[in-house]
Amino acid sequence: MPSDALTKAAIVGENRVIIVKHKADWGRIMGWKSLDDMALAGKRVLVRVDINVPVEDGRVTDDTRIRRIVPTIRDILAAGGRPILLAHFGRPKGVHVPGLSLRPLVPDLEAAFGVPVVFCADCRGPAAEAAVGALPDGQVLLLENTRFHPGESANDPGLATEMAALADIYCNDAFSAAHRAHASTTGLAYLLPACAGRLMQIELRALEGALGTPKRPVMAVVGGAKVSSKLELLGNLVAKVDTLVIGGGMANTFLAAQGIDVGKSLCEHDLGDTAREILTKAKAAGCTILLPCDIVVAREFKPGAENETLPADACPKDAMILDAGPDTVARIATAMEAAKTLIWNGPLGAFEIPPFDRATNAAAQKAAALTNAGDLISVAGGGDTVAALNQSGAAKSFSYISTAGGAFLEWMEGKTLPGVAALEK
Ligand code: 3PG
Repeated sequence: MPSDALTKAAIVGENRVIIVKHKADWGRIMGWKSLDDMALAGKRVLVRVDINVPVEDGRVTDDTRIRRIVPTIRDILAAGGRPILLAHFGRPKGVHVPGLSLRPLVPDLEAAFGVPVVFCADCRGPAAEAAVGALPDGQVLLLENTRFHPGESANDPGLATEMAALADIYCNDAFSAAHRAHASTTGLAYLLPACAGRLMQIELRALEGALGTPKRPVMAVVGGAKVSSKLELLGNLVAKVDTLVIGGGMANTFLAAQGIDVGKSLCEHDLGDTAREILTKAKAAGCTILLPCDIVVAREFKPGAENETLPADACPKDAMILDAGPDTVARIATAMEAAKTLIWNGPLGAFEIPPFDRATNAAAQKAAALTNAGDLISVAGGGDTVAALNQSGAAKSFSYISTAGGAFLEWMEGKTLPGVAALEK
């Protein structure tokens, strides 16, 4: 299948087709090669994937990351290549942790790919070499957790060389692990002819469209508990976006920095100066900051807790702010109507505890409606964010939902992702 058709096929069903620059030679514009640039027939292709999926009681509870790598595997197989999957699972810190083996994922991978998946209990050395040599045509080989070797996180050239010996081509399809400079995410790109997989292509294209060369006005929604975890993000965004909504616990820090009593709310009082600096920087850059103008407060942090909606400066001393109020949501909705591009990371309130999910749900549904109407390009990423958008039912209408958590955040912060940089070498 040609790359454009494949890209659309990959996005449709997962998300709507995103409206961004769409060219078959996009990879060359961005400085990396795609599978279309590689002669795959008869070649062994080491594919770095991210199948770090949530598992409970031995069952995969969300197979999104598995489903999203299917186009890459199918394309390699269709071109007569031999896919050899490299992946991490959890954080075993360089030792063999049986509970973090990738073997239990084999049935899910087989179901997704529609072909047999052979498992090998090491990702390098004689066992892996034998498994690669014995791989039947049309099948996929899954190598054991790369992080069982200390050389993986250390980006050890020795480990990378051993893994490179298994293949002819390296394909990185793990955007969500691209913020790690590990042997399998960067080292290999310097040792073998390297290209981006289909998911990597789609992620980079969507994110470049949203923040690199966006349709303006651009609006960002940043929520979550702590300013301290998103300082760099906020600093980068005020220089790039036209409107920045600050929500969740971190909004309390900004309210407190302006002299507002936030009662018992989650708040980083020691970051008052930092919050004020961000507000000053935003003003200088012409970025409008939207903070809550009304709040939902409660005395208990539990589902269904008795609550009231008050002006943002009226939080009782014995209460905590758990959500933004309806007037704030109305202001966010108005700003969304004016925007052409929306980028979202972090919930607006304690969305996991109803009824404190109302602001997040309402804002997400507004973004979904505008996207459905063709008036907004909406891109979201980050574990909590995707969970919140799924819960609101809005996720399926977003233009693009990234599979990445930490990598999405680092990309939004404006950082160079080592896994992407290595492909652009
Ligand atoms: C993720 O789940 O975000 C990626 O798989 C990266 O995992 P890590 O944070 O353990 O590197």
